[in-house]
Amino acid sequence: MLDVQAVRQQFPALAERYDGKPAIFFDNPGGTQVHESVVRAMTEYMTRRNANTHGVFATSRLSDETIDYARQAAADLLGAAPEEVVFGNNMTTLTFMLGRSLAAEFGPDDEIVVTRLDHDANVSPWVMLAEDTGAQVRWADVDMETCTLDMDHLKSLINERTRLVAVGYASNAVGTINDVKTIIGWAKAVGAYSYIDAVQYAPHALIDVKALDCDFLACSAYKFFGPHVGLLYGKREHLQRLRAYRVRPAGEELPGKWETGTKNHEGMAGTAAAIDYIAGLGVTYGGVAPSASRREKLAAAWQVVGEYEYLLIDRLISGLKAIPTVRIYGITSRLDWDKRVATVSIRKEGLTPEALALKLSDQNVFVWNGNFYAVSISERLGVEQSGGLVRIGLAHYNTLDEIDRCLAAIDRA
Ligand SMILES: Cc1ncc(COP(=O)(O)O)c(C=O)c1O
Repeated sequence: MLDVQAVRQQFPALAERYDGKPAIFFDNPGGTQVHESVVRAMTEYMTRRNANTHGVFATSRLSDETIDYARQAAADLLGAAPEEVVFGNNMTTLTFMLGRSLAAEFGPDDEIVVTRLDHDANVSPWVMLAEDTGAQVRWADVDMETCTLDMDHLKSLINERTRLVAVGYASNAVGTINDVKTIIGWAKAVGAYSYIDAVQYAPHALIDVKALDCDFLACSAYKFFGPHVGLLYGKREHLQRLRAYRVRPAGEELPGKWETGTKNHEGMAGTAAAIDYIAGLGVTYGGVAPSASRREKLAAAWQVVGEYEYLLIDRLISGLKAIPTVRIYGITSRLDWDKRVATVSIRKEGLTPEALALKLSDQNVFVWNGNFYAVSISERLGVEQSGGLVRIGLAHYNTLDEIDRCLAAIDRA
């Protein structure tokens, strides 16, 4: 079992005081706090290794080493090969970048499937690609009761004209985990690309791009205890074949072909540290030998994190259900807690989401309010005009006690 107090001591921000008091960080889907090893790795890079790449001198060689190390760590995180993982600014920028390259293959007879559950970063790049190429956009609907994808509807949209299916692994607004493996299979059956937004899945569970057999998958290190860096996995054959927009001296080699300009070296160092931190949980709490591979450690770590987060979800949703004036948006059946991550959105009668978030902020409980860029689901739920939702988003460093304090504050509000 995870020793959450020991874990918390490794996150410097958790010991800080804000307005003179400790804070409860339930804003995790917007960005998690950073592990101490991430701060160290970034400082080490910037103080001892800082240089541009491929030089003959020490700091440049150390920079190359840092980058190679980060590539392997990112590959282990996703179950990919190092040349299949592209580092970039963030998931949104990487997705727009890929869209520009894919556009050459799309035309007016083609269709793209997006969903009403997704963050706009997995919608607008494809809608704009469609505008540029004349392709048609098909929108998969959501079951309003459970905030899960309407799988029958989604399936009915996929046909021989479909060229791309873009779907989120886990919803940033309501926490639903989608059955992306099935959807990827449907896309593959008609020869369409699958693009998986794993930004909200990556902080909670193991990703295995080979087992999923997706064509592309993106996530962001700042959502899994690292710095502000994005990662894009692409099947080698696609990354090789597609035309990347880049300067002439930046050769054809993968993944550098896709990484325009100078990279965020310190961010890559921090990303590797975050991944190593997670892998370390597999050794400390998951019973994996220190000599095991990083991938094996990660698998064990996510198992331990998942078991702990299950307890957090249980406490949070049971507690919210006990407050009669609170409405929960999303999966609330205990039997289905393996179908959601620890991101729970609510409204409270008589309070706008902003007013509730402010009342929680008065108690130093940090939560987000609004639509969180998941615009379509906010509209579909009919809450967009009145301020959206309040999102309580947990990570493995949160505690049952913090949940109880948050519940009491919501009750009082
Ligand atoms: C599900 C999801 N997708 C995409 C994004 C965008 O990620 P980035 O900030 O790395 O562009 C977010 C950010 O909150 C998100 O939650």
